[in-house]
Amino acid sequence: MKTGKVDVLLGLQWGDEGKGKVVDVLTPRYDVVARFQGGPNAGHTLEFEGQKYVLRSIPSGIFQGGKVNIIGNGVVLAPDLFMAEAKNLEKSGHPLMERLHISKKAHLIMPTHRILDRAYEAAKGKDKVGTTGKGIGPTYTDKTSRNGLRVGDILDNFGEKYRQHKERHLQMLKALGWTDFDGFEETEKLWMEGIAYMKNFKFVDSEHEINHILREGNDILCEGAQGTMLDVDFGSYPFVTSSNTICAGACTGLGIGPNKIGNVYGIMKAYCTRVGAGPFPTELFDETGQRIRDLGHEYGAVTGRERRCGWIDLIQLRYSVMVNGVTELIMMKSDVLDDFDIVKACVAYELPDGTITEDLPYEIDGVKPVYREFKGWHTDMTKFTSEDQFPAEFNDYVRFLEDFLETRIGIISIGPDRDQTIIRK
Ligand code: GDP
Ligand code: IMO
Ligand code: MG
Repeated sequence: MKTGKVDVLLGLQWGDEGKGKVVDVLTPRYDVVARFQGGPNAGHTLEFEGQKYVLRSIPSGIFQGGKVNIIGNGVVLAPDLFMAEAKNLEKSGHPLMERLHISKKAHLIMPTHRILDRAYEAAKGKDKVGTTGKGIGPTYTDKTSRNGLRVGDILDNFGEKYRQHKERHLQMLKALGWTDFDGFEETEKLWMEGIAYMKNFKFVDSEHEINHILREGNDILCEGAQGTMLDVDFGSYPFVTSSNTICAGACTGLGIGPNKIGNVYGIMKAYCTRVGAGPFPTELFDETGQRIRDLGHEYGAVTGRERRCGWIDLIQLRYSVMVNGVTELIMMKSDVLDDFDIVKACVAYELPDGTITEDLPYEIDGVKPVYREFKGWHTDMTKFTSEDQFPAEFNDYVRFLEDFLETRIGIISIGPDRDQTIIRK
């Protein structure tokens, strides 16, 4: 019996690697695209035919070929934000009510979760995580402490369940000294409209649906959000998000057996960025960092926040390749480095006690990167159509990364547009 395959595509750094663009590019190869974790903290950008779209909770496979897209049980969904996102897509000529399915087991982000997010951040003071403020942490906390409200709850006595959860949150907020919330009633009204709007979509037992799709011989692409260094177990804790962003998250976030996973596409930028607080060993505070930020338009897709920029970190990436079981790498935004005299890659860390290591240590705060330098390629690659056109210096950089990470780079992205993508032979 022919069964379909599941491939997983995920970020290897601190998010914003370019996952949305590549999911869109790869969608024609698959029958279904599914998101497995995260929520509206994500901002996945796609560009084609002169248009730009930013997706938060909706999978990036909705633009190509009328494919079914699934929001899995591992995702946390804010009905008001979901409604805004879906209505925008419908308006721009991309209807999705028929083919976007939502897991009944996905958890709902309540308006009070977002206030709790802000309250916890405020309580942390200078140690704050710098969250997106979308209520991600409090929603996943309710999920693991068995207090969550799920999409399936919408179908049964929802008003009463909502009221109980809200009451509990208000008590928690009161304990934190938060009692006055501007515009809460308006937000709540919009949120309830979102709940009503969501009922236009198909609520599914996504684990059954997905395994059925596979049994029928169809292939699925799982789309990760955030990145490995934001994973709640393996990231730069506590400066992380609250879900498992790694490959294993696709199993728990969709109900897929690990033996069903085929390719694991690991996405990285040709350099590195991070939004929010937390350690970032290769961060550049000089004009080179600012140059990368300007050339790469490194400002958050959701929050507009400035992204911190630095050189590629191969110690961090090798760790990400390991914990995800990456089978193929995808390198994004190489065009941003098109005009540098020197490009650097971190190949070891010097620990505070002077020891040199090539393994990502428990604590990366305070490590000093050891760099290897590469000659810049000084070539505008943004209009290239084949890898045969790549300059020798760029090929040297790519080959070094592949050797160091012991993994092939299968796709190189040379610009934000769907067409600016080189699939290597
Ligand atoms: P995601 O969260 O991983 O989907 O990534 P984001 O959408 O947050 O950030 C990636 C940004 O880089 C977006 O603005 C993309 O349009 C843009 N982008 C993607 N690939 C490339 C590329 O190869 N070159 C350039 N210059 N921009 C790219
Ligand atoms: P995509 O999918 C970059 C960061 C936040 C913060 C930390 C925790 O677009 O790559 P949260 O709101 O999740 O509790 O915030 O994680 N963060 C992201 N950074 N890209 C993302 O998503 C992110 N989602 C969360 O900035 O540091
Ligand atoms: Mg993003």
